[in-house]
Formats: sequence, C-alpha cells, structure tokens
Amino acid sequence: MKQVKPFIPYGHQIIEDEDIDAVVKCLRSEWLTTGPLVKEFEGALASFCGVRYAVTLSSGTASLHALINAMSIERGDKVIVPAITFVATANAVLFQGATPIIADIDPNTLLIDPKDVERKITDRTKAVIAVDYAGQPCDYDELLTICNKYNIYLISDACHALGAQYRGNYMGTFGKGAVFSFHPVKHITTCEGGAIATNDKDIYERSIMFRNHGIDIDFRQRQKREAYDYNMVMLGWNYRLSDVQCALGLSQLRRLRKWIEKRRYLAALYRELLKGIDEVAPLVELPYRVNSFHLFVIRVLPHGLRDKVFQFMRRRGIGVNVHYKPIHHHKFYQEYYKQYYSNGQLHDIAPNAQMVSSQILTLPLYPALNDKDIKYVVEVLKDAIKLYL
Ligand SMILES: Cc1ncc(COP(=O)(O)O)c(C=O)c1O
Repeated sequence: MKQVKPFIPYGHQIIEDEDIDAVVKCLRSEWLTTGPLVKEFEGALASFCGVRYAVTLSSGTASLHALINAMSIERGDKVIVPAITFVATANAVLFQGATPIIADIDPNTLLIDPKDVERKITDRTKAVIAVDYAGQPCDYDELLTICNKYNIYLISDACHALGAQYRGNYMGTFGKGAVFSFHPVKHITTCEGGAIATNDKDIYERSIMFRNHGIDIDFRQRQKREAYDYNMVMLGWNYRLSDVQCALGLSQLRRLRKWIEKRRYLAALYRELLKGIDEVAPLVELPYRVNSFHLFVIRVLPHGLRDKVFQFMRRRGIGVNVHYKPIHHHKFYQEYYKQYYSNGQLHDIAPNAQMVSSQILTLPLYPALNDKDIKYVVEVLKDAIKLYL
C-alpha cells in the first residue's frame, strides 16, 4: 500500500516530557497565577536577552499594547510601522488611539526601509516599530540614528526574533523596548503569551501596572504586607500570563539555543538545495546578524506563479503559507486609511511591499523537521515550478 506522507505545517511547537512535568508541578502548587514562576520566567528571559527587565503578558499583541501605552503614545500621535507585518503591529498603535503610518520594506529582506521611515516622519511622529521579519534583525544602527535625530522612540517588534542577534547583542536590547511572542509557532511557547524586554525602569513599572488593571500593587505584594488596600492609578487591562504558562516557558527556554541552532541548520540546507532554481529567491541574509529563523521565506519570481505553487504544495501535504498580506491591503485598513489617502495614493504608499506581496511564500521550518523533510519540500516545490512554468 502507498504510504501517505503526514502533513507538514509551516511551523510547530515541541512539547517534551520535561515541559509536561513542569506544567503538572505548577498545577499541583499553590500558585496558578500571580505567583513565583512569573518572576522566575521574567528573570530568565531578561538574563537570556541581556536586559534589566522583562515583563510577561498574555500575548505578543498585549505586549505591544502595553509597551506603546508605557511610552504615553496617544490620540493624535503617529507611529511608523512596516507595510509587511502581522496586523497586530499596527493594531496595537490603534488601541492607543494613535495612527499607524506605513513605511515600505526592502524587497530583498522584507525589513523596514530606514530611508522610507525618515521620509515619513512628521512633527506628530512619536515612534517607529521595527519588525525583525522572519527572525532577521532590522538595521538598528540606521534606525537608532534616525530616531535619535528626530527624538522619537524606537520599538522593536521582535516577535519573530527571540534569540536573534545584531552586532553581538540579542534582540530585546534595541530601542526603548522590545516585544516577543510565545505563540506555538514561535521559538518557544507558553500556548499564548508574550513579553516586553527593556532597560528602562519607567517602562517596566508602567507595563507591570498596565497588565494588572492599572493597579499599583498586586495580590501577592498585598499578601506579603498583610494589607488589603490598593489603588488603581491608571487604566489597565488583565493581560497577565499565568504561572502555569510561565512554567512551560521556563522549561522551553532551556532548549532555545539548541532549537535556534537547528532552525539555522535547516535554513542553510534550504539555501543549498534552492541554489540553481532561477524562479525562486530566498530572502537575503545581511551581515552582522545571527538570524533566528522563525520563518523561511522565499520569493517566487515569475508573475502569477506563487499562487499556483502554493496550491500545488498544499495539495501535496505541505503547509506553505504567506506572511503577510501588506497591512494596508486588509479591508479594515483600506477603510481606515480613507481619511488620509485617496485610493490611488494608498496603492502607492509602499511599492516594494505591493510588488513582493504576490511573490512571497513561507516554507515549513521548525526544529522537529529533518534533512529528509526539507529535501521533500524542495522536491515538491521543483515539481510545482516545472508543472506551471
Ligand atoms: C510581527 C508580529 N508582531 C506581533 C505578533 C502578535 O503576537 P501574538 O500572536 O502573541 O499576539 C505577531 C504574531 O504572530 C507577529 O508575528
């Protein structure tokens, strides 16, 4: 009987016995939330990234929201975001009533283009959000120079790039603050979850309050002081990450370096196998960086071929994906930007993003894959190109 190959998704978590044991141990303990494992996970994350503070939150999106709030970004302010990113990057700006302004990306890397950032700065610009797309750090030297010149904040959306490095420093250390996501397809998981990394005490303290309804001291602190009174001093949310999730995060973090090495190995194998396929261009890797490869993204160059390849590979059980449709191509944002741009203008705000949006394709990449899986993916990709070219 012909053996059917199991579906290969584009990303997948690894959960091992030690993760399950850590979660069960927490479930049997006194503290399911607001307990000691939250601080322990935050300490381990901060020390991994080389920053003073880490604050865990219920998602990467909540982390972006809390960080933007902590910078007092509000209605009337503008925040520059890259055209190609997950919608959460721009949505978090809107949560604070501020306006996301789209900057174009470099078509070779899909990273925000510092020159377009500078062009789009006005006297209402408060911050720039740099997204380390697919795990490759942005040009932080240039972005920091621009942000310092105009006295605006740099925010690092490193949701794709936990463990990546720029000039020898880990993501988390750049800008006023950085955010990570622990969704199952990311480098480590807490099921849902995220964190802020920062060296700024004020950002740290405000984020801690913001995730706990804007209350000045939490339940554990009140218990320690044998006090019942607390004050809500700002408007906040319940964005806490539970101890159960932090138990999982702590356990996963111990294997992060090993998993990044595996991702980098598999990405190098893809590169090798894709050499000589003229119709396909992997994203360009820049110097002075360690890419932590959340995703492996290629551009399928001939006009109209990407969608055909996508469908062919899906039919053959390969979970290729597209990251992402440009922000301003989404229905919601098309409606939203009507107040700023005519239809024609909106079409032209990010020509590189426009061009690559019909080319990009994410191939499966996660540490549980092996050489045979990667070779199979590339064989199927070649079959698709041969069939449709
Ligand atoms: C670039 C980027 N920013 C923010 C987020 C939001 O993270 P989360 O899904 O944990 O809310 C994601 C999630 O995929 C992302 O890719």
